[in-house]
Amino acid sequence: MMGYKVAVVGATGNVGREMLNILAEREFPADEVVALASRRSTGAEVSYGDQVLKVKALDQYDFSEVDICLMSAGGAVSKEQSPKIAAQGAVVIDNSSTWRMDPDVPLIVPEVNADAVAGFRKKGIIANPNCSTAQLVVALKPLHDRARIKRVVVATYQSVSGAGKDAMDELFSQTKAVFTLGDIESKKFPKRIAFNLIPQIDVFMEDGFTKEEWKLVAETKKILDPKIKLVATCVRVPVFIGHSEAVNIEFDQPISVEEARSILRNAPGCVVIDKHEPGGYVTPHEAAGENATYISRIRTDPTVDNGLVLWIVSDNLRKGAALNAVQIAESLINRKLIQAKKKAA
Ligand SMILES: NC(=O)c1ccc[n+]([C@@H]2O[C@H](COP(=O)([O-])OP(=O)(O)OC[C@H]3O[C@@H](n4cnc5c(N)ncnc54)[C@H](OP(=O)(O)O)[C@@H]3O)[C@@H](O)[C@H]2O)c1
Repeated sequence: MMGYKVAVVGATGNVGREMLNILAEREFPADEVVALASRRSTGAEVSYGDQVLKVKALDQYDFSEVDICLMSAGGAVSKEQSPKIAAQGAVVIDNSSTWRMDPDVPLIVPEVNADAVAGFRKKGIIANPNCSTAQLVVALKPLHDRARIKRVVVATYQSVSGAGKDAMDELFSQTKAVFTLGDIESKKFPKRIAFNLIPQIDVFMEDGFTKEEWKLVAETKKILDPKIKLVATCVRVPVFIGHSEAVNIEFDQPISVEEARSILRNAPGCVVIDKHEPGGYVTPHEAAGENATYISRIRTDPTVDNGLVLWIVSDNLRKGAALNAVQIAESLINRKLIQAKKKAA
């Protein structure tokens, strides 16, 4: 059977490299995978399974034979390029925030709303949510199916890889500078991140919330349920990979800790590790490189009627970005919503 031609745009970046790993790991039905990035990276080499791909420049690439374009090159590039790529007949699955709230673009987390992928035909673009949203809704959805969620209060602890490869370099070089008494330079973050944390991700909005906090609210409503009230505080922490979230949930009816644990144990994409002993929970270090959304520290919130408290951890480059994008592509194929162009010809 003829497979698909897949383009990975941003293939030299944190998310793009992980996309190539995941396509290979999951044996995605691709006949050909092309790696694209900016002109700066032309000729650079990236790994795809046991193959080495030479990176090509996006602005000179012809997409007329491409079936699926996994895009992770930032908002400005996506705004300009995604409609052009879609016009050449490739389905664009985009990781930036550019298209997420467009009513003609489905915003998908396959464990939650995979059927909505069918809406891709309007613009030829499907959006991947923000990394913190993806892992949050994977855990909220099965609970919401059992007892309607009225309100969520979330504090995030987000790793530096969520801000790209330069941000990871900044944590590394600042940490080294602390030990060698060198100069600490901050370029990617507004304050020092090494041995510190920063209660600001993305820009401030008029109401005092940051754009990252707004995204978590707006995207959860679009993917899961517009009736859910949510308030977030998003914090950058000196962790390389893995986002964590402390989440308080208020339901419209009682739900016990035991029942929540059993629902989450059986929910797609979720793994519960919740022992009441030192180390009986998951930290970002263990979640890095894994595909699951881990749920620990499940407790009753005694301060509200029908409340639970959870600790949720996942690899932001995987479930928060690359894995989710590849799962969206798989959803299109499983539902027979796309056909390989070569096969169709
Ligand atoms: N990191 C996460 O957890 C996460 C989660 C969800 C969504 N996202 C989103 O995913 C996107 C990529 O994030 P990242 O963390 O992978 O960033 P990154 O590590 O900084 O990589 C950026 C990638 O974009 C490429 N690029 C930049 N300008 C380009 C241009 N003009 N034309 C073609 N390619 C260009 C870069 O290529 P060069 O190497 O050639 O510069 C690189 O491959 C962003 O929109 C981000 O918001 C990230």
